[in-house]
Amino acid sequence: MDPSTPEYWQQVYADEPRPGWDLDGPSPVLAEILEAVAAAGLALGKEIAVPGCGFGHDAAELARRGFTVTAFDFAHPAIEGARTRYGTEVDWREEDWFTTTVGPFDAIFDHTCFVAMDPARRVEYLDSCARHLKPSGFWLAVLFHDTHGRPGPPFQVSAKAIRDLAAPSIEVLHLEPAMQSHPRRAGREFLVIGRKR
Ligand SMILES: C[S@@+](CC[C@H](N)C(=O)[O-])C[C@H]1O[C@@H](n2cnc3c(N)ncnc32)[C@H](O)[C@@H]1O
Repeated sequence: MDPSTPEYWQQVYADEPRPGWDLDGPSPVLAEILEAVAAAGLALGKEIAVPGCGFGHDAAELARRGFTVTAFDFAHPAIEGARTRYGTEVDWREEDWFTTTVGPFDAIFDHTCFVAMDPARRVEYLDSCARHLKPSGFWLAVLFHDTHGRPGPPFQVSAKAIRDLAAPSIEVLHLEPAMQSHPRRAGREFLVIGRKR
């Protein structure tokens, strides 16, 4: 099956009601990214999108921190699970991120969405992120650089590939190994701050 389709992901949720990627809470790297944004003196704005939100933990954490959050997932069990867990504090959208007409946003928080994409669609995905951002909006991402050689998704990505793929649409301001990863992912994630060109 093709990870570009909602049917693929719906089957994953049907097979694994508690999928292996789900941290049952926000990624610790979300806080680390927001600290890095503040340390760099960048002003994110208020409206944030979370593509491929899964059960919504990161989106809900951003809402708790005062952002106005719109979260997207095209798999029905994901959005249903997010609504059940977190109610209406986030605008949950059961939509395909590539084709939604909602937005544009001040920032995007991407956790396990870029790396869940078919690698052949990465440029298209980054273009869609740029399209959904306001001028100079921010793309904030937590990306696997090491998946222990397992077949994806998730698909790992190198620092060079991130810079090369993003170059036409997004200026990479900050790309570092994440230091506050969940223990299951320690030493395997990048933290990225990019800005729409
Ligand atoms: C690996 S899961 C990660 C979920 C969540 N970000 C997390 O880390 O818990 C990837 C999610 O992206 C969703 N997804 C993949 N492609 C999508 C698309 N084009 N539009 C919306 N959602 C998409 C899938 O349905 C799935 O829920």
